[in-house]
Order: sequence, then C-alpha cells, then structure tokens
Amino acid sequence: MNIFSLIKSLAKITATFVLVANSAFAAGGGDAYIKDFDFSFEGPLGSYDQNQLQRGLKVYTEICSACHGLKYVPIRTLGDEGGLGYSEDQVRAYAENYEIFDPELDDYRPAKPTDHFPEVVDAGAPDLSLMAKARAGFHGPMGTGINQLVKGMGGAEYIASLLAGYTGEEKEEFGTVFYENTAYPGRWIAMAPPLYGEDVDYDDGHSNDLKHEAMDVAAFLTWAAEPKMMARKHVGFRAVLFLILLSALLYATNKTLWAPIKKRAA
Ligand code: HEC
Repeated sequence: MNIFSLIKSLAKITATFVLVANSAFAAGGGDAYIKDFDFSFEGPLGSYDQNQLQRGLKVYTEICSACHGLKYVPIRTLGDEGGLGYSEDQVRAYAENYEIFDPELDDYRPAKPTDHFPEVVDAGAPDLSLMAKARAGFHGPMGTGINQLVKGMGGAEYIASLLAGYTGEEKEEFGTVFYENTAYPGRWIAMAPPLYGEDVDYDDGHSNDLKHEAMDVAAFLTWAAEPKMMARKHVGFRAVLFLILLSALLYATNKTLWAPIKKRAA
C-alpha cells in the first residue's frame, strides 16, 4: 500500500466517523437550544450569590414545589454558609410551611429543620434535588457535553433555558398536552410553562421578569444539587497553587543539586 492510498483510506474512515457522530448528536436532540447565561458561580473562583439563591428558593417554594419535590435536600442546609445563609429562626419558620408524614406519629406534622424537603409524587414530575447535575452534560445521553467543556455551561443553563424556552405552541397526544420548548431534547415537554414573569414578588427589589426568575431558580437548584461547590473550587484552587509552588521548588532543588556535577563535566 503506498502512502497516497493510505491517506485516502484514512480520510474515508474520518468522514464516516464524523457522519456517524453527527447523526448520533441529532438523535440526542441536537436542535435543542441552550442559551449561555452568566452565573456568579461559573469559573474556577465563582461563588453563589446569596441573594439570588434566596430569590430562587422563593420561586421554588411558590411555584415549582406544587409539582416537584426536593427529597434529598435537608431543610437545615438553608442555614449553611456559602449557600442561602438563613438564620436558625428563619430556617425553622420556613420548615413549618411544609406538612410531612411522620411514621412514628402515624400522622402529618409541620416539618422541622432536620427533615428533608417533601417528596411530591402525584404530579408525575421528577424530583429536582439532583436535576441540575443530571442535566449538566445536556442534550441527553447522546450529548457530547462540549458546551460544558468550552463555555462552562451546565445544568443551570439548561434549567434557565428550559423555563424561558416555551414557544407558546401546544399539542395533545393520547390525552396528554405537550408544550413546545426550544431547550427540551425532542422539543415537546409535558410540563406547562410554570413561569411567565412577575410570578413572585421579590423583597430585594430585583427584577422579576421571566429571564431573572428562571435564572434565580436555576441557581437555587444548582446549589441544591451541589451545595459544596464553592468549597470544592477553593480546595482545587489551593491545590493548583501548591503544585505550582512545589514545581518551582523542585526545579530549583534539581538545579542546585546538579550544578557541581554539570560544572565538572563542562
Ligand atoms: C403543574 C406541575 C409543574 C410545575 C408547577 C412545575 N413543573 Fe417542572 N415538570 C412537570 C412535569 C410533569 C415534568 C415532566 C415533563 C416531561 O417529562 O415531559 C416536569 C419536568 C421538569 C424538569 C425536567 C426536564 C427534563 O430535562 O427532563 C425540570 C428541570 C423542571 N420541570 C423544572 C421546573 C421548575 C424549575 C419549576 C418551577 C419554576 C417547575 N418545573 C414547575 C410539572 C411541573
């Protein structure tokens, strides 16, 4: 085989690979559109914006919690530093919004900070505790997650795009209404648009248009799925600094140790 036919067959193999990869991508909802929102927690030094998380909790509580639970999230974590930072009294007062079933009492009682957010089963809606992480490499199981790698886009962007991505079109199939959504893989979702803008009143005077409500609740759900993100980033950053310092020291040590021997050889 000469070099030209080798190059030719290599080109053929590459072309086939690209074709196959492309069609797999399209099958995974390649037409779904995820917008790149700016979140405070992006980048190696990013951190959660406490006010934004508090606003997001408000959107979750007043709107999403009607259908979606957060069963893996303990209510007491609303008091954690680096998160929403509520005081103990505020957390206790918030917990009392929920009635939960206590198997010991065999009855319902107001929730306590040590309880988790309730699970919601009757709406047929998925639990949102880990949704922001589950959708981090979006475009479904076939997705490449390339935007996550290149632009730092993740689950928060997917959720915000989803909430702001309704076109207003709907259709009925087998007795279920589906709503057209430009961010949803497959385009038709069974969740009616939960937000239209001005759905909640914010106490901090922040804009409550659709885009901001969507971003706020997306930030809150990112915190719910990864409450320790900031600690993780800080440890990572310190580790990188340490490694840079260690490399410099090792380099200097190496130079000093070999200096007499190199001089002799020269
Ligand atoms: C009236 C009930 C209802 C409300 C209110 C509601 N949802 Fe949903 N949601 C659903 C249902 C049902 C699904 C499943 C849709 C499907 O599988 O087609 C869903 C799915 C989702 C998904 C998963 C999409 C995916 O990629 O699979 C996310 C994220 C979501 N909702 C976020 C929210 C947020 C955030 C709010 C509050 C702003 C909210 N929902 C309010 C019913 C609701």
